[in-house]
Amino acid sequence: MTRTTSSHRPAALLEQARKLCEPTLRDTIFAMPEPLDRMAAYHFGWRDPSGNPTQAGWGKGLRAGLVLAAAAACGADPRAALPGAAAVELVHNFSLVHDDIMDGDRLRRGRATAWAVWGVPAALCLGDTLHAEAIRILVGALPAVPAVDAVTRLEDAAAQLCRGQCEDCSFETRPAVTVDQYVAMAAGKTAALIGCACALGASCAAADAATIDAFGTFGHELGIAFQVTDDILGIWGDPDRTGKPVGNDVIRRKRSFPVVAALESATAAGAELAQLYRSADPITPAQAAHAAKLIADAGGRRRAQQFADRRVAAALAALPDSAGTADLVALTNFIAHRRL
Ligand code: IPE
Ligand code: MG
Ligand code: MG
Repeated sequence: MTRTTSSHRPAALLEQARKLCEPTLRDTIFAMPEPLDRMAAYHFGWRDPSGNPTQAGWGKGLRAGLVLAAAAACGADPRAALPGAAAVELVHNFSLVHDDIMDGDRLRRGRATAWAVWGVPAALCLGDTLHAEAIRILVGALPAVPAVDAVTRLEDAAAQLCRGQCEDCSFETRPAVTVDQYVAMAAGKTAALIGCACALGASCAAADAATIDAFGTFGHELGIAFQVTDDILGIWGDPDRTGKPVGNDVIRRKRSFPVVAALESATAAGAELAQLYRSADPITPAQAAHAAKLIADAGGRRRAQQFADRRVAAALAALPDSAGTADLVALTNFIAHRRL
């Protein structure tokens, strides 16, 4: 079935999702014990490090948007899935706080990362607390049986996410990484939670098992595409739009998709890149900029884009053949073509 671009504006959908989730997130975060409440409020953009109010924003709200749109696509009032949306965003933000430690990144959403402000031990505690609060929301807000289902789905995704993060880190020092190994890693670190978001939305809408699975598959495929696009933006994105430094992935010898594809290519540029990745010397920002050119010359950027496009097509093909998926299609197009 061909799916046309929705007339629904993805920006408006995401803004609505953030607005709907914000009260739950604020209540949760401001009830956390000192100093974790202040750190969390900083991470979510509501406070500066000293606790003064700011309006920096807490990200795109993409996962919350997917939970709510999936619930709506299954015929429910999206509000029925609000606890799921807030919980998924908390787990996502837990993973970001820890990820910035693992990746040594000092900048996210254009601001200093939590570990850069408060140090690694405090940021680890912040991430763990956000994860714990996610479970508390589900158990507190949902009836017993849906709560068990939601917690099981979310914790399965969290376990997959940790597996993927572990593999991603180990790839930095591995001699060779294949596209298949990359995909297995991205399935864990990114697609598991995005798949969970979509399944959770359907589950909160009391959809049948086959429908929940179909939404999970949609989210999984979309999640792989999301990560490959994130990898492209990590090398060629505009830091003013992404809020993240460009070139850091290469400096850390990350095996992002364009890098894996370039290293697999039988090209002179791929061979030069392999030499850089093999050397024990630190990669300088100037070398990272040159590496970006090598990766593109070796076809890594083109292959990454083609791969992401194929996973987007697979995601859309997995959606149940119902009339209610226009919002999900709009969010899919946003993810596929985003610059931030
Ligand atoms: C983040 O992965 C994925 C998780 C936090 C699980 P990356 O390290 O590739 O993403 P960014 O660029 O820092 O957001
Ligand atoms: Mg990172
Ligand atoms: Mg990472």
